[in-house]
Amino acid sequence: MGLRTAPPPIAWLMRQALERPRVISLAVGFTDEATLPVNETRALLEGILRSTRRGRAALQYGTTAGDAALRACAAARVRVQDAGAPGARGGAAYLPERLLITNGSQQLLYLVTEALCDPGDIVLVEDPTYFVYLGIVQSHGLRCRAVRLTPEGLDGEDLKRVLTRLGREGELGRVKLLYMVSYHQNPTAITTSLERKRAALDVLRHFERRAGHPIYMVEDAAYRELQAGDAALPASALVLAGAAERVVYASTFSKPFATGARVGYGLLPRAVHQVAVRLKANHDFGTANLLQQLLLEALRSGVYDRHLAVLRKRYACKAAVMLDALREHFPPAVGWDEPRGGLYVWARLPPRHKTGLRSRVFREAMARDVLYVPGAMCYADDPTRRKPAHEMRLSFGGARTGEMRVGIERLGAVLAEVC
Ligand SMILES: Cc1ncc(COP(=O)(O)O)c(C=O)c1O
Repeated sequence: MGLRTAPPPIAWLMRQALERPRVISLAVGFTDEATLPVNETRALLEGILRSTRRGRAALQYGTTAGDAALRACAAARVRVQDAGAPGARGGAAYLPERLLITNGSQQLLYLVTEALCDPGDIVLVEDPTYFVYLGIVQSHGLRCRAVRLTPEGLDGEDLKRVLTRLGREGELGRVKLLYMVSYHQNPTAITTSLERKRAALDVLRHFERRAGHPIYMVEDAAYRELQAGDAALPASALVLAGAAERVVYASTFSKPFATGARVGYGLLPRAVHQVAVRLKANHDFGTANLLQQLLLEALRSGVYDRHLAVLRKRYACKAAVMLDALREHFPPAVGWDEPRGGLYVWARLPPRHKTGLRSRVFREAMARDVLYVPGAMCYADDPTRRKPAHEMRLSFGGARTGEMRVGIERLGAVLAEVC
């Protein structure tokens, strides 16, 4: 498996951002540097280490599934976020024993994919999707089928079409999971409605009878807490009937607090949880205990929520700066939708203009020290459709507002020459 693993583009993009200080990176989803909670973290760590007993416990190995108090706290947090949904069931899906703490939600996605899939299996993904997840898929020798994404989220009718076709081709037995980024999606910023999640789960349940095994829905909620306004967000798929045995819910404390303290988590069906814990035991037998204690204290003390409120305002402001700059500098032929949260704007050039690593747009942008994520990177290798190559993902997370304006102005100049 190791030899099969292609170089992940994320590593290259992050290196460009870190090693070439002149480059304005609108590519990576780093958190806003100025808001990183340094003082809060110092105070929390001092609090943890003040007591010798607590300090020793924090500096010792923990359990593989994660600190019991943090698991309970994270499970309760998701239950509360979902509580307002019509028909929400409090039930089994939110039990702390189903919760797994991981090194960022990235590790959870890796473990779950490894737990559910064998090489040659098929994973269903949104079109486009989170490109780093595609690295996990590639590394495990899995195949992809892409499902249409509309402004309301994953298209259940298209999911049905994709699965019907796979049925005709005798491939349903290889379909193991659907991966979706349900809130402020990376890269498009689309949020999938609860109705769309219900429709997707129903379709999966329908086809799994013919597949002969469960087809899981992996809901990645990494950007759920990074919402710009106060409008109510849809509940997660965990509220749906039968979700406790079919939905894997992945989330993170990493982006909403500090990406350097990578603590993620997931709520998993029992059978999947058991296997994922075994795999995690082989990886690292537990997420760093000190970081778990840090997050636990941040959550319990209210520091986390206060920081989140600051961060949400900050990102709303940065998104507005980016959108203003786009309106000012991008040619009218380029379109985009306004994000209501998350860290990204998905810009669409006319289809004949390419944005890939070898394209004129990318090379000219790099020559002017601006980096973006070429849209094609976010599309799975799906042999049933041609990969679109005319979009770009722009992040307003890491770059400073002044840099962002300059970056968009330079990119706009490139696009004006090309489009
Ligand atoms: C959609 C999505 N899921 C998961 C992750 C992983 O984040 P972390 O491992 O820091 O929790 C990211 C990071 O960019 C992401 O964009």
